[in-house]
Amino acid sequence: MSGGSESAVSRETEAQRPTGAESESVEDEFSPIPYEGLSPLDTPIGAAAHRASQVLHPSSVNALPKPARRRVITIANQKGGVGKTTSTVNLASALAVQGLTVLVVDLDPQGNASTALGVPHHSGVPSSYEVLLGEVKAAEAIQQSPHSERLFCIPATIDLAGAEIELVSMVARENRLKNALSPAALGDEDFDYVIIDCPPSLGLLTVNALVAAKEVLIPIQCEYYALEGVGQLLRNIELVQSHLNPELHVSTVLLTMYDARTKLADQVAEEVRAHFGSAVLRSVIPRSVKVSEAPGYGMTVLDYDPGSRGAMSYLDAGRELAARGYRNEKQGNE
Ligand SMILES: Nc1ncnc2c1ncn2[C@@H]1O[C@H](COP(=O)(O)OP(=O)(O)OP(=O)(O)O)[C@@H](O)[C@H]1O
Ligand SMILES: [Mg+2]
Repeated sequence: MSGGSESAVSRETEAQRPTGAESESVEDEFSPIPYEGLSPLDTPIGAAAHRASQVLHPSSVNALPKPARRRVITIANQKGGVGKTTSTVNLASALAVQGLTVLVVDLDPQGNASTALGVPHHSGVPSSYEVLLGEVKAAEAIQQSPHSERLFCIPATIDLAGAEIELVSMVARENRLKNALSPAALGDEDFDYVIIDCPPSLGLLTVNALVAAKEVLIPIQCEYYALEGVGQLLRNIELVQSHLNPELHVSTVLLTMYDARTKLADQVAEEVRAHFGSAVLRSVIPRSVKVSEAPGYGMTVLDYDPGSRGAMSYLDAGRELAARGYRNEKQGNE
């Protein structure tokens, strides 16, 4: 009995401990972190409810500025499991929930982005494979995510696994996605953002994604060897830039799976900020069970648990991403 009350006390004490970053690591359901703008008097459950209602009722969230021109962003890092797909679908969802129309292009034969968006992607469904091969128009492969009227996806089926080889002998093999995503090919829908999820390799699929976009977003996991392979990715980006797509640049770096309980996470974050400077978003995505559970339900974390810290951090990251693009446009830097 005394153990129970002790743990209740210590949790409450935890809630009032103003340690900031350190308490960020506590799992969502026990999250004591007051989210910016909330009354500090809110209980954790009250804070979660408030956050959920912010996400569920977008009118209470400031709508994001529409970019003057469609932004095409490729999410790339050839290292596996760093949060490319998770960031693709949750940023897309964060932008959609805040009023923008977003198309996700799943360019990974694993089809994880399609799964997380709740979009069918069994063999035979018109997909990024047929789009790349020129067999169907992009508009014919676009499906709406069941969770949002502003979120769309060109899914990936397992057929895409063969594309890496099939593309080799094709005409304009590096430009196929770019051509397939031309405004005419995308149909009537007025997409503000196109976000492309890449496979964990630097093959022709990723090259197609780098040619089709103006911006690259690199997710970096706050773990050992975080920057391993990033040099090679940057060299590939430079190659694409100098031969195929002069406008390409690394506009954004997103720190993922941040666990503030570890010193390592901070060290990695510092190293990444020293390396990439202002390209690194201030918002950092915490390691959170809710984030990893959501795809199992065919949902983004914003739909699965809108009040969770994972959802809020992606919402923040989306807001930052949109504000930066808007600022760049205003400054004429785009
Ligand atoms: N913030 C997070 N907290 C907890 N788990 C996460 C988080 N982000 C991603 N994960 C989990 O880590 C794993 C890898 O994430 P994800 O699939 O997004 O990486 P990826 O870079 O797309 O992987 P791949 O290279 O295989 O395509 C997944 O199981 C995902 O659910
Ligand atoms: Mg992936």
